[in-house]
Amino acid sequence: MSFTAYAPASIGNVSLGFDLLGAALKPLDGSKLGDQVEIVAAEEFSLKVSGRFAHKLPSDPDTNIVTRCYQHFMHVCQQRGQSIPACAMTLHKNLPIGSGLGSSASSIVAAFVALNAFYDSPFDNYALLVMMGELEGQISGSVHYDNVAPCYLGGLTLMAEQAEQIALQLPVFDDWYWVVCYSGISVSTAQARDILPKQVDMKNVIQFGRQLAVFIDAMYRQDRSLAASMMHDVLAEPYRKSLLPKFDESRQFAMSNGALAFGISGSGPTVFAVCDDLACAQSINQWLQQNYVQNDTGFSHVCQLDQTGTVASSKI
Ligand code: HSE
Repeated sequence: MSFTAYAPASIGNVSLGFDLLGAALKPLDGSKLGDQVEIVAAEEFSLKVSGRFAHKLPSDPDTNIVTRCYQHFMHVCQQRGQSIPACAMTLHKNLPIGSGLGSSASSIVAAFVALNAFYDSPFDNYALLVMMGELEGQISGSVHYDNVAPCYLGGLTLMAEQAEQIALQLPVFDDWYWVVCYSGISVSTAQARDILPKQVDMKNVIQFGRQLAVFIDAMYRQDRSLAASMMHDVLAEPYRKSLLPKFDESRQFAMSNGALAFGISGSGPTVFAVCDDLACAQSINQWLQQNYVQNDTGFSHVCQLDQTGTVASSKI
């Protein structure tokens, strides 16, 4: 029997919630914007890779994040006194690396969800999310859940990081369209975190707190325009946009052509625009495809939020 898990791409930060807010994505055209992991029984562990971005992965499977997920999963099982047999894993790498679309989170979440299903669910949601966060931390240099949590749970999630509850799911607007455009260049999250100041001005702290609090309140009261007006990044975007050619021009186009909000997805270079009208989303998508994309690797999609998150399916 084989088990497969598909894990959607995600927008970390969502502009106003640095490390605290994340959203899972589902392209309207049905294309796969997320990694997939498949597991079958085997005498010994192996990892195969395939997919559009497989050639960008390290050639040594031992350094692949999915192998590290498997090792971590085995280690925690052993610590609990559970001994489990080996398996063979395949990673379908559909997301570009260093894209700001939660590419590593997608591989990590797909791997853990598939492993948990294959070994008959030894871990609950909380334990799985803790493991996902730890592995994400190994890649990006610090534990942050704003990609793994929405990718795993789906929808728009707020990080609580409390015992028993890592992330909370927020109400959303079903008629919001999320255009995401990957320029085609690679930005390392660790590097994009390094360029941020270690200390933040008091006025920015107050502004950040106000925006996040008002946004959450507006989402619960379904006040679209108030929620959208809070979607600004006062912490990271002013520094990170210097890494993103044509960022200001793209924001200018999106905001003057009907977008409710525009920002950097995670640590970039992907940008996102939020629209409450499909025609508006499609025209911004087309403009970004023609103007923000810099090479053959880039792409743009009109998405809605993926409310399902990551689940495993089995096949005999
Ligand atoms: N919150 C993280 C950051 C997301 O902005 O560094 C990285 O995808």
